[in-house]
Amino acid sequence: MLTDEAGGKSPRTSLHGLWSSKMAFVLAVTGSAVGLGNIWKFPYIAGQNGGGAFVLVYLLCVFLIGMPVMMSEILLGRRGRRNPVGTMELLGEEEGGSRNWRWLGGIAVVGGVLILSYYSVIAGWTLGYVYKSALGEFNGATAESVNAIFGGFIGDWRMVALVHTLFMGITVAVVARGVERGLEQAVRFMVPALLVLMLALLGYSINSGHFAEGVAFLFAPNFDQLGWDGVLAALGQAFFTLSVGMGAVMAYGAYLPQETSIPGTAAIVVVADTAIALLAGLIIFPIVFANGLNPAEGPGLVFQTLPHAFGQMTGGALFACIFFVLLSLAAWTSAISMMEPSVAWVVERFGRTRAQAATMIGSIIWIVGFGTVLSFNVLSDFKFYKGTIFDNVDHLTSNIMLPVGGFFIVVFAGWVMCRNSSSEELGGAGTIYSIWHFLARFVVPVAILFVFLKAVGLIPELS
Ligand code: PHE
Repeated sequence: MLTDEAGGKSPRTSLHGLWSSKMAFVLAVTGSAVGLGNIWKFPYIAGQNGGGAFVLVYLLCVFLIGMPVMMSEILLGRRGRRNPVGTMELLGEEEGGSRNWRWLGGIAVVGGVLILSYYSVIAGWTLGYVYKSALGEFNGATAESVNAIFGGFIGDWRMVALVHTLFMGITVAVVARGVERGLEQAVRFMVPALLVLMLALLGYSINSGHFAEGVAFLFAPNFDQLGWDGVLAALGQAFFTLSVGMGAVMAYGAYLPQETSIPGTAAIVVVADTAIALLAGLIIFPIVFANGLNPAEGPGLVFQTLPHAFGQMTGGALFACIFFVLLSLAAWTSAISMMEPSVAWVVERFGRTRAQAATMIGSIIWIVGFGTVLSFNVLSDFKFYKGTIFDNVDHLTSNIMLPVGGFFIVVFAGWVMCRNSSSEELGGAGTIYSIWHFLARFVVPVAILFVFLKAVGLIPELS
């Protein structure tokens, strides 16, 4: 069992070291937030849910729900300075007199494993696309040839298994090395480089795509297109893209120096993450409309639109190669944060080294990942509830586990934790604190509950 040297009072010390600077923490959380969720998932889910109305609800969810949850997670993490299970157990006892809050930390461990199991497969696709771009497979591509290449690639389960294995390997390698040496270095250059390249791609979409049509699709809301299922998808996407609801940010918060401002950090991360997602949408939809592609194409959308654009550009192969390298890097820095809660838990709870813990957790994730590897080929006809194994794991994690986790995180931070503790972590009881407290106590829990009940049809429509 862990002992609490500080006698139950904050500030405690982290067992894994601290971020070397405020900037390192901002970069790490940004690295966690910015990933496939922004560039792969946001466009395809927005496309499947009809665009504008979905995007509007998504933005509301990001700022009114996701951001207060992020602040809550960081503050709990820093207050407890343990892995999410240990932190919730410690704070639960200290603030609420119950050790059962540790089960909330359990969501972090299980959620991280499940999310990474499919995330690693899609990240593997991007690795595969680095290779394909380098070979010049997309030169002069037409919509049909890009489609055929994508279908051929994901249809070959051995190839997908290979890239999934490769991606898990490099993720485990970084996590095994630890916070100071691994995580911090990995995020330093990726975000700015990605941003520069995306701005260049935006230039392409403005010049060669149907830009006005893309903008209208993304920003002109048509609420007839959006059912409560779509609202739930927007809520789930807000959690997913910000990496909140499962303790990844809580685990990183445990390494945050005491003097860093939590609201300031959360604001930077949320704005950067949202900007990158919208940018991805502004790049992809003009290409979709210019080429007569289907916006509701699904998980293949990015892989079927961007190579087409690259194929038409001079020097496109190089450009494509750099882009997919950066996207793999972005996925990698997110994947690292998904593993951190469970790895820190195994280290602290069972006294293992980081290398042992990372290898063990990584192996479990690798095996579970085969459910997704096979969802696009051998088992593509094996469907239940929401669809393939991939569809179900995605729905269970993004649309259920993350919002449920977020619900209990804000209930703990807003209702169970005493005001003195939370205001101490959030820099005193000023206006920002009051806004956070109000959102965390009322708006976030009520909104999550409402959307859940609506999505399962327990609240009737007013007509
Ligand atoms: N936010 C990451 C992305 O957008 C995914 C993620 C989810 C990371 C949950 C950590 C925890 O790609």
